[in-house]
Amino acid sequence: MDVLTTPADMQRWSDRVRAGGHRIAVVPTMGALHAGHLTLVERAFDHADRVIVTIFVNPLQFNESSDFDRYPRPIDDDLDACERIGVAAVYAPTAAAMYGPAFQTRVVPGPLADRLEGPMRPGHFEGVTTVVTKLLNATRPHTAVFGEKDFQQLAIVRRMVTDLDVGVDVVGVPIVREPDGLAMSSRNVRLTPDDRDAATVLSRALFAARERFDAGERDAAVLRRIPSDLIAAEPRASLEYVELVDAATLEPLDGTLDDTLGAALLTAAWFGDVRLIDNVQLSADER
Ligand code: PAJ
Repeated sequence: MDVLTTPADMQRWSDRVRAGGHRIAVVPTMGALHAGHLTLVERAFDHADRVIVTIFVNPLQFNESSDFDRYPRPIDDDLDACERIGVAAVYAPTAAAMYGPAFQTRVVPGPLADRLEGPMRPGHFEGVTTVVTKLLNATRPHTAVFGEKDFQQLAIVRRMVTDLDVGVDVVGVPIVREPDGLAMSSRNVRLTPDDRDAATVLSRALFAARERFDAGERDAAVLRRIPSDLIAAEPRASLEYVELVDAATLEPLDGTLDDTLGAALLTAAWFGDVRLIDNVQLSADER
């Protein structure tokens, strides 16, 4: 497995591999790899015979420097995990290689970034679109794989890749969960044991709404209220939002749901000083 740390080295690697007739898929991550990330790598092999994992804790997308500082960085474990699963190259640039002192250009997302996570995390998605552009430009992949765990991020990246003619296929992968339903996240290790137990309320609440949807409920207000009441009733959870949106446009849905549209329920909540997000899709054919 090769480890590259500068954009120029990464591009040279990629050009050489492409010239050898291989297909390249990239899995962008911030490291602290867990089974969710590794599932993305497995799916990447469905689309390519050479997989690159990028590991970079991107300062541009953190709105709180304390969250950035506390973000776990177990680089040796991450490299071992990549090697074991057959990754061809890890791109782990330094912050200096990514953002030199004269750096000033940003990729600005559109209204998809103005809702849900957007107002809660000012500048976050601009940081994501900027770094994803840089990571795609460095790795030059045919395919890029992202998780539905970050549902809004995936929608924004898809839009950006189309709008800016990036020429990379974007593949989305369903959320990978712990056995008790908690969506896997690099931030879960920071939960206290009590908060870790309480955090299962997010998936339980979303699944409860999905069960009602599957049983025929189509009233948007009811489907939104089921999870929001359940999460609000958990004393260790501090709820930021529950929203029911069109899965493609992320526009809020109200009234009676139209079965021809995909619908998604998204939530964010704090447990202590850890902020978690989760979502489910409600249209039967999305699962
Ligand atoms: P990170 O949080 O490390 O996530 C990397 C990728 O793994 C994202 O596409 C995310 O959606 C996916 N992922 C994380 N947990 C998952 C789970 N439980 N199930 C399925 N997929 C999961 O997202 C980022 O990093 C950054 O914003 C990044 C895109 C790398 C840009 O810096």
